[in-house]
Amino acid sequence: MVIFVTGGSGFIGSNFLNLFLPSFTEYQFVNIDKLTYAANPLNLEEVSSLKNYVFEKASISEYDQVDSLFTKYKPDVVINFAAESHVDRSIVGPADFITTNIKGTFNLLEACRKYWDSSKNKKLFYHISTDEVYGSLGDNGLFSEETGYDPRSPYSASKASSDHLVRAYYHTYGLPVVITNCSNNYGPYQFPEKLIPLVITNALEEKPLPVYGKGLNVRDWLYVEDHCRAVWLVMEKGRIGSTYNIGGGNEWKNIDLVNKICELLAEETSKDTDFYKKLITFVGDRPGHDYRYAIDSTKIAAELGWKPRETFNTGLRKTVRWYLQNPDWVNSVKTGEYKNWIDQNYRYREIK
Ligand code: NAD
Ligand code: TYD
Repeated sequence: MVIFVTGGSGFIGSNFLNLFLPSFTEYQFVNIDKLTYAANPLNLEEVSSLKNYVFEKASISEYDQVDSLFTKYKPDVVINFAAESHVDRSIVGPADFITTNIKGTFNLLEACRKYWDSSKNKKLFYHISTDEVYGSLGDNGLFSEETGYDPRSPYSASKASSDHLVRAYYHTYGLPVVITNCSNNYGPYQFPEKLIPLVITNALEEKPLPVYGKGLNVRDWLYVEDHCRAVWLVMEKGRIGSTYNIGGGNEWKNIDLVNKICELLAEETSKDTDFYKKLITFVGDRPGHDYRYAIDSTKIAAELGWKPRETFNTGLRKTVRWYLQNPDWVNSVKTGEYKNWIDQNYRYREIK
């Protein structure tokens, strides 16, 4: 069986490949990645020499490239992790989000439609999506699979569009699809533009820890390997045409989370908690900042028996240790492009 893993050099895709590629030697994994700023070949150092791994530098936004890869490998499964994934970048410049997230998904669907005869072969188009498509919750309630879509950032609107296309191909052409919508992930190999690795790596460099607004927005955090295990389960046993929500049942206000990271850093280094907490800096809010995300994972738990293995205490400690133990990885991503982004995103945020 040949599995296309698009975006396999990014955060979640590389954790997925690291977790499953060494054990499933009967599967051929083809990582199709454009290698944007968010990708890092170091993420796959441990698996890249294995026989069942192939890397193809290509963009899903270019139909010709996608088509020739389908001819070359004849995939049975496509797992579409590839995306522009950062909300703040989508606010500064939405164009790439439209090209990769919408047109890229469309190109993959078109290739599946062209090459797969779903009446003859068991195939699967697996689209990785986000809970952000559901919009913003108030203090109560959870996103279920029945919650209406209400995306509010260019990122979430582009993901919502791609989800709609995937479902349209199921209903119209009978393409065998499945979609999962997951909450915020954290763990090793996450690019330090996202809150948790940004806070850890800035703290280690004794730089400000920027908290948007009053820090009261809430996110539901899930350890990345728990997400990857859910993806594997859905790939093997998910019902065709279905959607599954995946969440951590682990809601944190941003400010409480940043304080917790400071406490963990103090336990793992020679500095005390106050040293890190003094770096916390409230900065101007994100435009259209969604207040709260929280997932109801009842369906995947009941149908497929999935539940997270990691607690937030164990997962966050592992994550802090990983960033402490991998300074070469951190230095490899804190390039000129990264410094430009940090300058662009934070320089004009008013310090309150
Ligand atoms: P990431 O930004 O870390 O990685 C994205 C990867 O996609 C990179 O390797 C990049 O090079 C690649 N890519 C980008 N454009 C491409 C293109 N045109 N063609 C081929 N490859 C391209 O993202 P991530 O955090 O690993 O997220 C993976 C998926 O999971 C995304 O679809 C995202 O929407 C979804 N998701 C992420 C989270 C999260 O918390 N990170 C939560 C829920 C869902
Ligand atoms: P992020 O990691 O960008 O994920 P998402 O926007 O997809 O949820 O942000 C998580 C939360 O942290 C979100 O409420 C925005 C907030 N945040 C900050 O307060 N400061 C920061 O520097 C960043 C990047 C995010």
